[in-house]
Formats: sequence, structure tokens, C-alpha cells
Amino acid sequence: MTTSLTITQPDDWHLHLRDGALLAAVAPESAREFARALIMPNLSTPVITYKQAMEYKERIKSALPHGSDFEPLMTLYLTEKTDPNDIKRAYASGLVLSAKLYPAGATTNSLLGVQNFEKLQPVLECMADIGMPMCVHGEVANHDVDIFDRESVFIDKILDPIRQRLPSLKVVMEHITTTEGANYAKSDPGKLAATITTHHLMINRNNMLAGGIRPHYYCLPVPKREKHRLSLLEAATSGNPCYFLGTDSAPHVDKTKESSCGCAGIYTATNSIPCLAEVFDRANALNKLEGFTSIFGSNFYGLPTNKGKITLTKGLPVTFPHQIKTDDGPVTIFDPNIDIHWQVTS
Ligand code: DOR
Ligand code: ZN
Repeated sequence: MTTSLTITQPDDWHLHLRDGALLAAVAPESAREFARALIMPNLSTPVITYKQAMEYKERIKSALPHGSDFEPLMTLYLTEKTDPNDIKRAYASGLVLSAKLYPAGATTNSLLGVQNFEKLQPVLECMADIGMPMCVHGEVANHDVDIFDRESVFIDKILDPIRQRLPSLKVVMEHITTTEGANYAKSDPGKLAATITTHHLMINRNNMLAGGIRPHYYCLPVPKREKHRLSLLEAATSGNPCYFLGTDSAPHVDKTKESSCGCAGIYTATNSIPCLAEVFDRANALNKLEGFTSIFGSNFYGLPTNKGKITLTKGLPVTFPHQIKTDDGPVTIFDPNIDIHWQVTS
């Protein structure tokens, strides 16, 4: 039995750090185990321009513990009015890695997102030319499409047509949740990739809804049937470099989750790595963990692999705090719902 595992320090290719009191509380949690993270731009005032991204990056750095070398990598929030020249400047700086497509209304703070996808053509042509990846929240927001079908409809109706028009555009399908998503993501190696979250590997829609509604398991894309979770598990543990970790750790204070209209988002930054070790161990795939958490993402984005290492140790079940405190109120930490035997020991 493996009881200790040393791997290259992980990166988180999809992270919400927020701003203000939440940023102050959550940034140190991600910086403890992750070397770098791709920071999502959906603040209440979205990070649309290069200048806004640089200002936000400074606020993140100020929230890090003294001496931390955690590197926030920035994304811009695409709108129908995004200026291709601003995109070019941002990408050339090396500090902004991608631009994120949010269909308008699909998720938290997405109202300034895209309604008419054809309007993106000039900016996407520019991104394809310079090799800048587009990250996508891959769900349609139409009220006539069932929430459990929104990912597969997005692939057929929006993403595939965009890629047909621009085959050289690099695309990361963020937080895939379905068999269809996992299959599509592997269909064009080097051009197409997908992030998978910790929580979508661990929960299905029953965890969220059977026996009572559990707001801390509600996120978008919404967890699906067990057969889809199994497809994600197969993908993550396959060793295929088109799948890598993006936790989508998305803190909301408890009073906004435990409400008659609760926010979408699961906060997993604190315990993602131990949870993933447990999931990969139970799938007899510990030897595939490092590729998923620490190698494939940086390869796709054309960045060097981290030099640092972390060591995980297996023992008696580990307990994690139930919440982290913030000046805006507590944020509940993801409850893995199974015993976790792994912890990061150095
Ligand atoms: O559950 C989610 N929370 N999904 C998203 O797409 C956004 C995120 C957030 O920002 O809260
Ligand atoms: Zn997200």
C-alpha cells in the first residue's frame, strides 16, 4: 500500500478569489499548496481590460502571506465589445493567459457576458492568431433548455460552430460535468482541453438533492447523474493530458448560500489536494495524480512545470475545518462526504 507520495507542486487552472474580505481570507488558503492559479474574472465589476487585470493582480498579491511566491495568472472577461488590441497587449505581457467566455446569464456575475456569439468573431480571430486560449463556461443560459442539458447543448450549438469557424483557436472547456463534455474535450489534442473540479469528481446530483436540499453542494454547471461523474473520474485518471485540474473553488458567504435563492459555488481550496489524492487512490490511479494536478495544465498553456514538490501522506482519516472565517461572515468548506486519509505534510 502506498502511504506517501511526492509530486510536483500543483497548479489550479480555475480559481475564484473574489475581492475585499473574501479575497483576504481565501488567497492564503490557495497559496498554501498551489504554486499558481488561473484567476477567474467574474468579480461584481468584471475584470474586462488589461488594466483592470493588472490592478486586480496587485490586490491579490497584497492579500498573500508575507513571502508567498504564489503566482496569480490572470484572465480577461470577454464581452461583445472587447477590444482585440487590448487583448493583444494583455497576452503579450505574459501576465494574462487567457480570456474567458461567459454566456450572459449562465452563472455568477455573468450578466455582462456574451449574448450574440457571432460578435466575438474579430476578437476570437485575434486570439487564434496570437495563440491565446479561450476559456469557456460551457453552458447555454436559455430558459427553454433544461439545466441538466445545458452543457451538451452548448457544445453542439455554440462551441462546435465557433471551433469550425476558427479551428486554430485553443479552447479550455471549464469544469466539464458530462460524458459528452469529456468526449468532446479529447477530440482535438493540443487545441482543446478541459478542466475538471474536485467536487464534480466526488458528488452527483443525489448528493445535492436526495434526502434534503444541500446548498453547499450547489454549483454550476450543476452536478449530474452518477454515470456522468464516472465519466469524469475515468477522464481525470486516464493520464490523457487534455484533462487537468481547475478546482473552481468559488467562495460565497454562508448567508448567501443558505437562502431561498442560494448562490452557485463550492469552496474547495482548503481541502482539494487531499480529496483528489483520496479519489485517485480509490480509483487505483495514484500514479496519474501528478499529471492531472501539476503537469498537463502548464503544458497546455505553454508554461514551465513547477520546480517545487509537495508530499502527501496517508494515515487515519483527516478532519478539515468546517468553515473559514471572513470579515463578511463564514464560508463553508466542501464536505467530501467520504473519509479522506491523505494530507499534505510538506
Ligand atoms: O458554481 C459556480 N460558481 N460556477 C460558476 O461558474 C461560477 C462560480 C462563482 O463565481 O460563484
Ligand atoms: Zn468558475
